[in-house]
Amino acid sequence: MLLLQFLTIAAGPLALAGAKYIPTRRTSSTTSALIATQYGTVFDAPVTIGNQTFMLLVDTGSSDTYVMQAGYTCINSTDNLVIPELDCFYANKTYHKSKTYHHLSNEIFGVQYGAGIASGLMAYEQVSMGGISVKAQKVGISNDSNPMGDGVNSGLLGLAYPSLTSAHPANQTSNSTYWHDRLVYNPLLYTMHEQGLIDPYFSLALAHTPQNESTSFGGYMTLGGLPPVNHSSHFSTVPVEITDNIPLWFTSGKKVRSYWSATVKNITYGSSLNNLTMNSTSFQAFIDSGNYISYLPDAIVDPINALFSPPATYDSDSGLYIVDCSAKAPEFGLSLGDQTFYHDGSDLIYQTSEGICVSSLASSSEVSLGDITLNIIGVPFLKNVVAVFDFGKNEMRFAKKLSSTQSVSGNTTSTPLVSGASMQHNSRYGIVIGLFLGVMILQMA
Ligand SMILES: *[C@@H]1O[C@H](CO)[C@@H](O)[C@H](O)[C@H]1NC(C)=O
Ligand SMILES: *[C@@H]1O[C@H](CO)[C@@H](O)[C@H](O)[C@H]1NC(C)=O
Ligand SMILES: *[C@@H]1O[C@H](CO)[C@@H](O)[C@H](O)[C@H]1NC(C)=O
Ligand SMILES: *[C@@H]1O[C@H](CO)[C@@H](O)[C@H](O)[C@H]1NC(C)=O
Ligand SMILES: *[C@@H]1O[C@H](CO)[C@@H](O)[C@H](O)[C@H]1NC(C)=O
Ligand SMILES: *[C@@H]1O[C@H](CO)[C@@H](O)[C@H](O)[C@H]1NC(C)=O
Ligand SMILES: *[C@@H]1O[C@H](CO)[C@@H](O)[C@H](O)[C@H]1NC(C)=O
Ligand SMILES: *[C@@H]1O[C@H](CO)[C@@H](O)[C@H](O)[C@H]1NC(C)=O
Ligand SMILES: *[C@@H]1O[C@H](CO)[C@@H](O)[C@H](O)[C@H]1NC(C)=O
Ligand SMILES: *[C@@H]1O[C@H](CO)[C@@H](O)[C@H](O)[C@H]1NC(C)=O
Ligand SMILES: *[C@@H]1O[C@H](CO)[C@@H](O)[C@H](O)[C@H]1NC(C)=O
Ligand SMILES: *[C@@H]1O[C@H](CO)[C@@H](O)[C@H](O)[C@H]1NC(C)=O
Repeated sequence: MLLLQFLTIAAGPLALAGAKYIPTRRTSSTTSALIATQYGTVFDAPVTIGNQTFMLLVDTGSSDTYVMQAGYTCINSTDNLVIPELDCFYANKTYHKSKTYHHLSNEIFGVQYGAGIASGLMAYEQVSMGGISVKAQKVGISNDSNPMGDGVNSGLLGLAYPSLTSAHPANQTSNSTYWHDRLVYNPLLYTMHEQGLIDPYFSLALAHTPQNESTSFGGYMTLGGLPPVNHSSHFSTVPVEITDNIPLWFTSGKKVRSYWSATVKNITYGSSLNNLTMNSTSFQAFIDSGNYISYLPDAIVDPINALFSPPATYDSDSGLYIVDCSAKAPEFGLSLGDQTFYHDGSDLIYQTSEGICVSSLASSSEVSLGDITLNIIGVPFLKNVVAVFDFGKNEMRFAKKLSSTQSVSGNTTSTPLVSGASMQHNSRYGIVIGLFLGVMILQMA
């Protein structure tokens, strides 16, 4: 604390004195249009690695950027048998070594998400997004993965804090300990900022997606700026918190920021016409663009799911709530900073295969690992806001997105859903989540 104060005071005069001698580097911003896949549950952005451009899953819930290498091995996560590459569901476009590839011989890449494992080599590569290019970025070049693609992406773009990166010493031979022995490095956007290319933040405006289309426009991601969508001029600001419930070993024994965690002040649900309920018990949750379900406390999720008309019913096999595809969703808002953000009713129901629909709200106890329970605010929320992730100020800012179907007051609409769509694959990334979702998908497929 004392040290921090000292640095703050010292930095002022130093910066001023030095300012006229330091040539100012101009940062820029760039916007990428996203593709939504798997019926509006997965969002991909174009990223160039070496001399090839890939679609990568946009994930604020992890920190590595990896791409599948040509000739990789696909492994069934249930029985660990080698299965055809096609069954991994990644795009057919795979990474080939370019002139800018430099292998890191003393490190390996190995990451464990809820949906499975990806591993391989660590390398320096030239990586760019929307014309902003980093010459030597550490990336995972994966030659081995469980099925985690969506038919469009070839890997993932990790946007969380450095403490979650998954490079390891080259002598690491077990794939069951990837949450340990991390050789922490700066993720892509950190490097872009470090090299003076962008201001230290990015923003997301995920699109509301048609329930019956497998692939659609997914909204925008902007580096060092705001996305080109209409939004309220009022931003709520919340500090990024150290995630309380993850054990210290998960972040190399250090109490540091990892996920984009914040405190939700209160939850509002019901009908503003006759009976709006507020639960004002605050809780911590992290914002995860790689998670299509929002996992919140039981005491919140149970009553909200009961308020769908007709009510959503708990399915113990999947841990999710099954709901009529044309049900009317209740109003649901969560408060961050000084605003309550309501969800469009159409973002609260996902259609899966065989006309089965599920609520996009489930209990965080379903994703607990031992006694660790994490609340996750996923895609349903992000479709309704412009979200700014600022790793320079360690804060997040949220503004209400304005669209033709949602008024600023949080008026919700329920869109009747067309059956026939299917959510075939488990593309969830985060911790411990995919295992049970995988079960659900198997059961529903
Ligand atoms: C994975 O293994 C399980 C259990 O053996 C099997 O039921 C499933 O069909 C396999 N999946 C693929 C894609 O091969
Ligand atoms: C993880 O390790 C086990 C045991 O060595 C192996 O059977 C399995 O194929 C590995 N999984 C992946 C995705 O590499
Ligand atoms: C990328 O670079 C490699 C190595 O120089 C070359 O063999 C390959 O043809 C290039 N690919 C493309 C798409 O330009
Ligand atoms: C992936 O590459 C590593 C390092 O070269 C190697 O040890 C491993 O056997 C490879 N795995 C597969 C499935 O090819
Ligand atoms: C990849 O190629 C195979 C064989 O050419 C094709 O059947 C499959 O649909 C392709 N997959 C994707 C995701 O494009
Ligand atoms: C890898 O090597 C380091 C340094 O020699 C050592 O501390 C560590 O225990 C080794 N890890 C494994 C899994 O062998
Ligand atoms: C999805 O539903 C909309 C509205 O009912 C309809 O216009 C559109 O053609 C449907 N798309 C598909 C792929 O079924
Ligand atoms: C934003 O709103 C204005 C005024 O309603 C409209 O003209 C414009 O097209 C909207 N822009 C976008 C990107 O939706
Ligand atoms: C209002 O909603 C709450 C929670 O859903 C419920 O417990 C209560 O009975 C409702 N009150 C009325 C008057 O409908
Ligand atoms: C409000 O939510 C908290 C969990 O965040 C729960 O413990 C509490 O029971 C809820 N209160 C009511 C009245 O539902
Ligand atoms: C709920 O949160 C909103 C937004 O932060 C705040 O305005 C309101 O006072 C809170 N209500 C309660 C009862 O805490
Ligand atoms: C929601 O918006 C519609 C259309 O703008 C309006 O008729 C309705 O009264 C609004 N409902 C609420 C609860 O504000």
